[in-house]
Amino acid sequence: MKVLIVGSGGREHAIAWKAAQSPKVDKIYCAPGNAGISQVAECVPIGAMEFDKLVEFAKEKEIDLTVIGMDDPLVGGVVDTFEEAGLRVFGPRKNAAILEGSKAFSKNLMKKYHIPTAAYETFRNPDEAMAYLETAKMPIVLKADGLALGKGVLICQTREEAKEGVRTLMLDKKFGSAGDEIVIEEFMTGREVSVLSFVDGNVVKIMSSAQDHKRAKDGDQGLNTGGMGNFSPSPFYTKEVDEFCKKYIYQPTVDAMKAEGREFKGIIFFGLMLTEDGPKVLEYNARFGDPEAQVVLPRLENDIVEVFEACIDGTLDQVDLKFDNDRATVCVILASDGYPVEYKKGFVIEGLEKFEGRDGYYVFHSGTKFNDKGQFVTNGGRVLGVTANGASLKEARENAYRAAEWISFENKYMRHDIGKAIDEAE
Ligand code: AMP
Ligand code: GLY
Repeated sequence: MKVLIVGSGGREHAIAWKAAQSPKVDKIYCAPGNAGISQVAECVPIGAMEFDKLVEFAKEKEIDLTVIGMDDPLVGGVVDTFEEAGLRVFGPRKNAAILEGSKAFSKNLMKKYHIPTAAYETFRNPDEAMAYLETAKMPIVLKADGLALGKGVLICQTREEAKEGVRTLMLDKKFGSAGDEIVIEEFMTGREVSVLSFVDGNVVKIMSSAQDHKRAKDGDQGLNTGGMGNFSPSPFYTKEVDEFCKKYIYQPTVDAMKAEGREFKGIIFFGLMLTEDGPKVLEYNARFGDPEAQVVLPRLENDIVEVFEACIDGTLDQVDLKFDNDRATVCVILASDGYPVEYKKGFVIEGLEKFEGRDGYYVFHSGTKFNDKGQFVTNGGRVLGVTANGASLKEARENAYRAAEWISFENKYMRHDIGKAIDEAE
């Protein structure tokens, strides 16, 4: 089989690495990919939003399966474009990817189908949003409706801050048309857990849980990022939580999408908060998380290509999804100092060879390229995801931090407290 993966981050590196282990796969392409991905796939310089070029390429190379890693092309309808061209593709269609693409849509869906989430109101008119804030309880959360690289969520402590937030999103249009509509929702407290799942339209099978670290700095300080590291499984995702979510969140979401005529096939990423009143949905994503994929896929025991195909064919009920439950995984993101605001690129990366042949250690590339001497250089805010397994979460964390020291590049930055919550679980 020939497989094409669309995307260019650590998530796509993890997907490509896992797909390369499938006995069914002869050749993997990645568009546009990065220098690290080129170790397992042939990278082709086509952007993830260049749908016509992607389709043309898939036809020319007779690609058997295309896997979309990123949210933007999914929300933009890349799957529909591939299907219209008669090509086999993994991911939700545009009418289902809206689960991630519009927060107002997803909140309204949860309300209609009684799926637990924070109480909320939606607004298209800034004056009405301002009026609502006059009597609303603080702190409060504002969310731009559309995609905003994970940055369109504002947690406001005071009324003044919240009003400023409405101005930022709706009047200054900091996130463009993503702020045409906003969700204002109740502030919740609790632990966050990410749960990824495979969905075939009817059946949902969940993967091992994970906990992300979204803020840039130690102690959960600093700005929100795409994710600075994570661990899997989450010790806070207990059997009781799992049972509750299966009954009231996962299957009801898949059924709700079907009932709305928006059958969902692909990955649903459930962002959950474990509140005092039980688990509630913070957000849905329509793709693997980055770096959640990097900690979950190393322990997936199935052939991932078979699972992708079962989702497309509606035969997921026949798949026995298995994870290596005897091991845990931790990923520490090595970033370029200044991320997520301003950072330099082009620094030579040293030490990557230390991962070669070392079982249980992985280095997934988020933002790298080759310079004209053929050396790996930094090419993004998030640069590498250093990932390690261990017999326990603690051992995995030690291993990941040890491996993070093998790598050097100028302006290297990482959080030092990824997985600190593991100690609190004892
Ligand atoms: P989202 O993109 O919706 O997951 O929001 C990004 C982050 O903002 C989440 O991971 C939470 O840490 C925080 N957040 C979002 N919604 C709420 C909420 N209603 N209450 C408290 N924190 C929230
Ligand atoms: N790590 C969070 C995300 O992929 O959205």
